[in-house]
Amino acid sequence: MNKTTAALILLLPLAATAAPFAKGNPKEGRKLHDAKCVVCHQRLVGGDGTEIYKRIDRKISTPQALLQRIAACNAQINAGLFPEDEENIAAHLNRQYYKFK
Ligand code: HEC
Repeated sequence: MNKTTAALILLLPLAATAAPFAKGNPKEGRKLHDAKCVVCHQRLVGGDGTEIYKRIDRKISTPQALLQRIAACNAQINAGLFPEDEENIAAHLNRQYYKFK
């Protein structure tokens, strides 16, 4: 086995466990989130609204649930986000608050 093959084999498990929302762009997600999502959460939890993601009894415990929740919140306000936007927001929220691996 040559070195390249060995390196590829070493990297395979890493690729298999790539972070959720690896295709999402957290910077874009943050912009969308701050523009569309904050007001309502502020009304719910006060402050800057981020407490909704940090509270001890937060509802979201898997990456799938996070995407579903974002889609549901998006639908509530007819924000017109595309799946790609939702993925970007998920990447932002995950990086900042949820930290799913
Ligand atoms: C119409 C008001 C409203 C808007 C706008 C809104 N949300 Fe929400 N959001 C809620 C409510 C209500 C909950 C549920 C609170 C609860 O279950 O206690 C929630 C909860 C969440 C949660 C789960 C928090 C947890 O418990 O872990 C996430 C994630 C979330 N929203 C993301 C978003 C995103 C992303 C957007 C922008 C696309 C958005 N929300 C816009 C009302 C809104």
